[in-house]
Amino acid sequence: MTLYECFAADLLCDRTVLVTGGGSGINLAIAKAFATVGANVGICGRTAERLELAAQELRGLGAEVCATVADVRDPEALENAVSRTVQQLGGLDTVVAGAAGNFLAPVEKISSNGFRTVLAIDLQGAFHTAQASFQQLKDRRGSILFVSAPQAHLPFDSQAHVGAAKAGVESLMRSLAIEWGPYGIRSNSIVPGPIDGTEGLRRVSEQVGLDTWTASTALGRCGTLEEVAAVAVALSCPLGGFITGARIDVDGGLALCGSGLFNRARSGARAPLL
Ligand code: COA
Repeated sequence: MTLYECFAADLLCDRTVLVTGGGSGINLAIAKAFATVGANVGICGRTAERLELAAQELRGLGAEVCATVADVRDPEALENAVSRTVQQLGGLDTVVAGAAGNFLAPVEKISSNGFRTVLAIDLQGAFHTAQASFQQLKDRRGSILFVSAPQAHLPFDSQAHVGAAKAGVESLMRSLAIEWGPYGIRSNSIVPGPIDGTEGLRRVSEQVGLDTWTASTALGRCGTLEEVAAVAVALSCPLGGFITGARIDVDGGLALCGSGLFNRARSGARAPLL
């Protein structure tokens, strides 16, 4: 049994979702989960080829799909992605702000532009996504979901830029819950822990190894793409109807265990302890 069989196959039939960064990784998994429960799916991202492959997969699941090349740092490109999606698929019920950029680098080795780049993709991109979809979400009493990261609330070595950006995303999520609640718009975030098969996990496992990550969760394992995507669907359907301003950790207990193992392994790999 797949996780999605927990949901009715027509759960989100006639609903439309737009997923930023939906061409790959966790965001594509979320897009596929929405397709599996009957939603029309808009995706946007920076790479046309990647988006086209993702769109083919989504169509294979029976979804109507609209793929738009858009960098979330460009507000006009995002507005275009929203209006194309609405024209082709109908008004937006859910927006998933998933686009993110990351690299491992200690603070003293990040240039001003490097720091700004991650803030621009993760935080400003989330802001642009919210702003571009506001009218749609207001018209449909929809919901916005941010894909955050453990770095938002735990300090990880060589991830200061990501932590700052994702903490900002969490704050934006809560502000929107307050500001847009009166319009019936819900705003939440999910925080995936180490998830098998993702570019993000591959990057943060370099030098420290995968075992460091599994040992950092209470469940002693990595999560699956399905386990994250199913929560995104649950939050976006009537099951989540009274949930807003919430951060949902889908991390096997990483938030409880902390970042200490990773930090010791990582700092040990790059510099001797004092
Ligand atoms: N260490 C330090 N600085 C880095 C870096 C690294 N590993 N990677 C990028 N930067 C800096 C660059 O040096 C540049 O700053 P500079 O102009 O002062 O030299 C700045 O970040 C912008 O990099 P650039 O590659 O020109 O920007 P971009 O917009 O094309 O891509 C990222 C930015 C973050 C998306 C890019 O690093 C990337 O492709 N990451 C991998 C994909 C990814 O993040 N996937 C998500 C996984 S969660």
